[in-house]
Amino acid sequence: NCLNDKYRPQLHYSPAKNWLNDPNGLVYLAGEYHMFYQYYPDGTVWGPMHWGHAITSDLVHWEELPIALYPNALGDIFSGSAVVDFKNTSGLQTGGDPPLILIFTQASGNTQLQSIAVSNDRGRSFGFYAGNPVLQNTDKTINDFRDPKVFYMNDKWIMSLAVKNKIQMFSSNNLKNWTKLGEFGAVPLQGAHGGVWECPDLLSFTLDGLKLWVLLVSINPGGPNNGSATQYFIGTFDGRQFRKTGIYQNLWMDWGPDNYAGVTFSNEPKNRKLLIAWMNNWDYGQVLPTVAWRGQMTLPRVLDLQRIDGKPRLLSTPAVEVESLRNLAQFYETTRPLWIRSRHDFTNDLQFNNSLLEVDGVFDTQLTINDPSATFSICFYNGLAEEVCVGYNFGTNNLFFDRSNSGDTSFYGNFGQISYANRETRNKILQLKLYLDTSAIEIFADGGYTTMTGLFFPTQLLTGVRVKFSSGIAVNQLKILSMTIRGLK
Ligand code: FRU
Repeated sequence: NCLNDKYRPQLHYSPAKNWLNDPNGLVYLAGEYHMFYQYYPDGTVWGPMHWGHAITSDLVHWEELPIALYPNALGDIFSGSAVVDFKNTSGLQTGGDPPLILIFTQASGNTQLQSIAVSNDRGRSFGFYAGNPVLQNTDKTINDFRDPKVFYMNDKWIMSLAVKNKIQMFSSNNLKNWTKLGEFGAVPLQGAHGGVWECPDLLSFTLDGLKLWVLLVSINPGGPNNGSATQYFIGTFDGRQFRKTGIYQNLWMDWGPDNYAGVTFSNEPKNRKLLIAWMNNWDYGQVLPTVAWRGQMTLPRVLDLQRIDGKPRLLSTPAVEVESLRNLAQFYETTRPLWIRSRHDFTNDLQFNNSLLEVDGVFDTQLTINDPSATFSICFYNGLAEEVCVGYNFGTNNLFFDRSNSGDTSFYGNFGQISYANRETRNKILQLKLYLDTSAIEIFADGGYTTMTGLFFPTQLLTGVRVKFSSGIAVNQLKILSMTIRGLK
C-alpha cells in the first residue's frame, strides 16, 4: 500500500503516487484552499509537467483531486499562479460566480511562454483560453521565461516573471494582454546568482506605518547550504519597478536544504501572506529513497515583515491551523527552569508513541563562552542510534541541522552534510519551535526570523527526544527556561 510507505509524511502534503515539485496556483475560493503543483503522473522522477491538484478547508487535511492541466500543443505545464477574477476583467466568466484563472508557463523545447486557463465551477474543471499564449518572450537570447505570479493592485493585474537572472514585471487589464514594466536583479546585480532565478513572489507589508515590499526569488543552485533555496529582497514597488532599499547581505527565507519554490496564496481570507514551498532540493530531489511517490510540501507558513535587532526582516511562522493537530494525550513540559550541568542532567530519555511532534524550547545561553566551538542540540532518535539534531553554536551564533546519522543518506553524496544558518539576532535567549514529521523537520528560531527545513530517512521512526551537549559547555552556560513537547495527530 503506497500510503503506508515508511517515509510517508503525515503532517505534510505528498501525492498518493508519483512525482511532485513546486506548489502552483495557491488560491482560496469559496471555502476551499486550492493547491496545484508540478506533477508527473507517469513516474517518480521529473517528466512532462502537469498541474496536480489538492484542496483543503482547514489547511491540515488535504484531498487529492484529478489532474487539473495536461500538456497540450503549446507545451508542458510549468509553474504559475491563480487568481479569482472578481470583476470578470477577463470576460471568461460563464456563470454567476467569478471565474478562477490559472496563469502558467508552457514549455516546449527551448521555448517558454505564458498561458491561462479558466474554471467556472469552483476549480473542478479547467479549460485553456483559446487565445493562448498570453505572453511570449521577445528576447531570443534567453530561454528562461517562466513562473508567473500575479496579483491585483490599483485596478491592474501585476505579474512577476523569472527571466534567467532577473525578475521582470508586467501589467494587464484583462489577464490576456500583458505590457512590460520594470525589472530587477541583473543590472545592477542584486543578491545571490549562483544559479537560475525561479518562482518569484512580490508581497506588500506595513512596517512602522510604511508600506514595504518583499520580493521572494528562488535560486537553483546557489543556496546557502548548496543547491536550491529562496532568497528575498526588501524594497519599494511603485506599480512598475521594484527597488531594493537598504544595504544588507543576501537574505534567505529559509536556510535549510529543503525549502524551494515557495509562493503565497491569492485571496487568502484572513489576508495572511500564507506560503507553501516544495520541501526538497534539485540536487537530489529525484533520487530520494521513497517508493511510490516522490516529493512533499512544507506546512503552510505565515510570512510577516518586522524588525529584529533594529533590522527589517522577513519572518515565517507555522499557520495557527496546524495546532489543531495537537494530541493532548502526549504532552511533556518542564516544570521549572533547568540548569544544564552535565550531559546527563536533562531527562534524556523522553519517548513518544510516534514521530509527529511539536517542540517549543526556550534556552538562556548566558554570556560566558569558554569554548567557542561549544554546541548544544535537540536530537530526535530511534533504537538504532539514528538521529536528527537541531543545534546552536555558541561561538558563531549559528543554528545547525544535522542529518549526518539520520538513516539512509547513501542515495546522494552530500545528503549527510550539516546545514548552517546565521541567526538573525544575537539575543542570549534562544527560542526554538520545531515540527517533526516522519521524514522532515521544520525549524523556526526566535519567532521565525531564522528558519531551516530539511528531509531525512530513518530506518525506524524517531520517537525519542533528548538534549545533547558538546564538550566545552561549562556549568551555568545553558539554562532551559522552558520546554514543551506535544505529540501530534
Ligand atoms: C522550479 C522550476 C520552475 C519550473 C518548474 C518546472 O523548481 O524549475 O522554474 O517552472 O520547476 O517543473
